Amino acid sequence: MSLWKLVCVDCQSEYAGLQLRYRCDCGGTLDVVHDFQSRCDQLPTLAQLDTRLASKNNIDRSGVWRFREFVLPLDSSHIVSRHEGNTNLYVAPCLAEFSGVASLCLKHEGENPTGSFKDRGMTAGVSIARRLGMDRVACASTGNTSASMASYAAVAGMKAYVFIPEGNIAYGKLSQALAYGARTIQVDGDFDVAMELVEKICVDNGIYLLNSLNPFRIEGQKAIGWELMQDLDWVVPDWLVLPGGNLGNSSAIYKAFQEMKDLGFIKHLPRFAVIQAHGANPLFTAFRTHSPLTPVTNAQTRATAIKIGHPVSWKKSMRAVVATGGVVEEVTDQEILDAKAKVDASGIGAEPASCATVAGLRKLVSAGTIKHDETVCGILTGHLLKDPDVVVGYHQGTLNGIVSNFANAPVSVAASVEAVTEALKKT
Ligand code: F0G
Repeated sequence: MSLWKLVCVDCQSEYAGLQLRYRCDCGGTLDVVHDFQSRCDQLPTLAQLDTRLASKNNIDRSGVWRFREFVLPLDSSHIVSRHEGNTNLYVAPCLAEFSGVASLCLKHEGENPTGSFKDRGMTAGVSIARRLGMDRVACASTGNTSASMASYAAVAGMKAYVFIPEGNIAYGKLSQALAYGARTIQVDGDFDVAMELVEKICVDNGIYLLNSLNPFRIEGQKAIGWELMQDLDWVVPDWLVLPGGNLGNSSAIYKAFQEMKDLGFIKHLPRFAVIQAHGANPLFTAFRTHSPLTPVTNAQTRATAIKIGHPVSWKKSMRAVVATGGVVEEVTDQEILDAKAKVDASGIGAEPASCATVAGLRKLVSAGTIKHDETVCGILTGHLLKDPDVVVGYHQGTLNGIVSNFANAPVSVAASVEAVTEALKKT
């Protein structure tokens, strides 16, 4: 086989590695399957991967392309990179205490160039678009994918079309799509409607689709797993906790861990805990009832990034949970926003969907599923500034149906020394 092939998750049909195709003929999603065996003499060792951390080579400096032999072995002339990745892994004692575990590490993917983990998948997707000679790219998005694609398309000189659910994405993300110059199409419907539409539009018009349905996006996102293990000196944590929306990220990180294990870099897999919002919880229900996924119509949550009722990659994500002995949990908006107040106040900060990670961890610890002394890594997926409206609304107590348990409300004072001095005494 060539360097990789595409294999259907449902019927195992195989397709050649590079072609304009997002699904199997049967409709199933596709996996990139690498032939690591045939190029085992070209694969770097862990020590060589560490050496690249100090390299001044542009490609080595990306937290995705540093792992290129395992992600996608592309010629460097095709790579469109913004030195994505290289995100911090924080040790967070106060959030460990809030969650009920002895210690907690949080990898902050909001520290990517456009403020979310999507940049890792997007550098791979846009590089493949360039390799295929495409000059137009598109995606449906709850906001972060569109922000990321708009940026990478601009860098690559491609025309970008983003399809977003009107009125349902955070302003930070909408601003990014507009600012980076993407043609922004606000669809009168939710994410699931926009997703169905964009797939048809792309296939009919020869525009390259860059949602995580595109298997190459998943390959880039795998680098979260590779970089996390490099951060941890290849010591596998007991649990990996992350939010689930369209379910590409859990699929990707699991694939990375499985490949690291197959290659002999690690001995076992972490257990995956995928956290969904209560109002957008189809994977949670499928997991709990041991049944195929039933889409949630009219999904609802204030964590708009994961307001998705019909996730494209649910089979791949379920595979991650089942293969690792993991779980799927759901959390309410109240739990998400209280956890967010704690994540923000710890000085780290993240957008609402990211904080489902901490809310879900807390719930799983209190249920006894995750034990106090087990090692846990959580993924924070997006930057705090993506959704300032929710932050201000929470702290001012203006979010309908949400009790601001950890509010830090601003105070208004007269412009006099006496009034300010009086106000300071109250804090
Ligand atoms: N967290 C954030 C901040 C996100 O933007 C997303 C997804 C997720 C978590 C869920 O990841 O879909 O791989 O399960 N955002 C997509 C978007 C859907 O369009 O930006 P997932």
